[in-house]
Amino acid sequence: MFRRLGGLWGLSTVALLLLGFAMPVEAVEKDLVAKGEVLVKENCARCHAISMEGDSPHKDAPPFRTLSSKYPVGDLAESLAEGIVSGHPDMPIFVFSAHDVEAIIQYLESIQETPAVPSTER
Ligand code: HEC
Repeated sequence: MFRRLGGLWGLSTVALLLLGFAMPVEAVEKDLVAKGEVLVKENCARCHAISMEGDSPHKDAPPFRTLSSKYPVGDLAESLAEGIVSGHPDMPIFVFSAHDVEAIIQYLESIQETPAVPSTER
């Protein structure tokens, strides 16, 4: 009996902790988005339109804000981590760290013009 109560208490402590951690998430995500923006500015902007408007400097490169019309942006995470994207002759191969990938995805999601397709990655 007491052990079960103890278990419940433990659970609600966890729930409270989670609630506590949920608060700063927004700030963290803003940082990620900002970092992602820097990364794509440095690595992708010479070919892709990376913001909410404008055309891509490279005529074949899709503006990033349109990516989600083809697939969930989160699905790019894997290709970014493993070396994006074979089959695009003009595009250099990039390999990003997991954290950079997360940042880039967050940034890309923040600029999509079509409502985000739910990601299969999360
Ligand atoms: C040197 C030019 C260049 C750079 C730099 C570049 N890209 Fe591309 N990218 C292209 C071109 C050209 C295409 C379209 C190729 C095609 O459709 O075959 C493309 C296509 C893509 C696609 C669409 C793939 C698909 O299947 O629809 C994604 C996503 C993408 N690039 C992401 C990135 C990211 C992220 C970066 C920066 C880390 C980047 N690109 C940097 C030229 C570039």
